[in-house]
Amino acid sequence: MKSVKTRQGLAIEPVEDRARGGGVVNRRIVLKRNPEGEPKPSDFEVVTEEVPPIAEGQMLLRTKWLTLDPYMRGLDASGPMNNERSVGSTIVGGTVSEVVESRARAWNEGDLVVGYYGWQEYSVGTPEDLQWGNEAMPIEKWDGSLGPPSTALGILGMTGYAAYAGLLNVATVKTGETVVVSAASGAVGQVVGQLAKIQGCRVVGIAGGPRKCAFCVDELGFDACIDYKAGDLSTALAAAVPDGIDVYFESVGGEVLEAVIPLLNPGCRVPVAGWVSQYNTPSNNAPWEQQQATPLQRLREVGLNELGYEGSTDGFRFFHFNELAARQPDASEALRTMSGWIKEGKLKYRESITHGLDSSVDAFIGMLRGENFGKTMVQIS
Ligand SMILES: NC(=O)c1ccc[n+]([C@@H]2O[C@H](COP(=O)([O-])OP(=O)(O)OC[C@H]3O[C@@H](n4cnc5c(N)ncnc54)[C@H](OP(=O)(O)O)[C@@H]3O)[C@@H](O)[C@H]2O)c1
Repeated sequence: MKSVKTRQGLAIEPVEDRARGGGVVNRRIVLKRNPEGEPKPSDFEVVTEEVPPIAEGQMLLRTKWLTLDPYMRGLDASGPMNNERSVGSTIVGGTVSEVVESRARAWNEGDLVVGYYGWQEYSVGTPEDLQWGNEAMPIEKWDGSLGPPSTALGILGMTGYAAYAGLLNVATVKTGETVVVSAASGAVGQVVGQLAKIQGCRVVGIAGGPRKCAFCVDELGFDACIDYKAGDLSTALAAAVPDGIDVYFESVGGEVLEAVIPLLNPGCRVPVAGWVSQYNTPSNNAPWEQQQATPLQRLREVGLNELGYEGSTDGFRFFHFNELAARQPDASEALRTMSGWIKEGKLKYRESITHGLDSSVDAFIGMLRGENFGKTMVQIS
């Protein structure tokens, strides 16, 4: 079995090769060790093995699409790649797979399955499997009338739900308000900004580099976008929000949050989706008290309320996309609404696609550096 060369020239060594019986061969990427700081290709390895014949009630699934998301690195010490229990396991992740053989009732060859089968080419599933281990989120057949299958993992999946839930349900954004969104051209940010425009808001993005900023303004219709890498973010942001900030959709933390804090208006809402600038900091694996302050700690320090706590209607709150995705019928309605807006041309999306399982490692490392431009996806087959 050959080793796989990544773009950085390091080899991911396959450690097992048990594919000798002539059946379907699966290749999967497992975590070799918990990364220190930025993940390296040598933190991962490829395992190749034959898939056993499926039993009654099971189906053989071929992965078509794999989504790569910042949470896979881990928001804190318990996150997937920071956790010792993940070592040796297939890396988790949302997938769209095709049923290639089925012995499960009501699941047929050719069906597309939205699941959580991780970084691998094949998997054996059952209708009882869950997405995210969440009892309220069983695997689903993809309804192709909503959009292309890749969107099930992006704008019409986890990242779309995060944008919708954070902006409309947590921040309860109102017409005429000023909304600032960080990681603005990324999977969540691009949707947040467009949803805010649909609500009649003034929208200012913050993104890394002139191409991403031009995309937000020229393609997505944001009112302005600030390149935080161009220097003096605080001055540029203040000039772009003359009436202050009513809603800050937080995805980044660190310096970007520091530039936002002085501009927050009384009554502001800050839905906190994550803090990607800090996921690779070595202290992320350290005990809690040694870690860099998260946006939740910083916003508490500067005196913001916790949204919803003792009835507060302003302030900040961490939220999870599945607050909406697991709640029916609201989830179906949000999906249908966003699918409709896409068809009407009101909502656009950009994907950052690489091809083949072996591209996953570089694409994942690159996403955490900002090398992606849009929703990071891997077309596995
Ligand atoms: N709570 C939830 O349910 C939920 C669901 C989905 C995602 N999220 C969170 O939402 C955030 C965005 O996720 P996503 O999937 O949409 O990823 P993404 O924006 O598509 O990709 C990550 C982006 O982060 C930006 N970034 C990386 N390092 C940065 C730094 N030091 N400073 C500023 N920006 C930096 C880069 O954009 P630039 O090139 O513009 O810097 C990069 O493209 C993450 O924090 C993620 O954990 C939360």
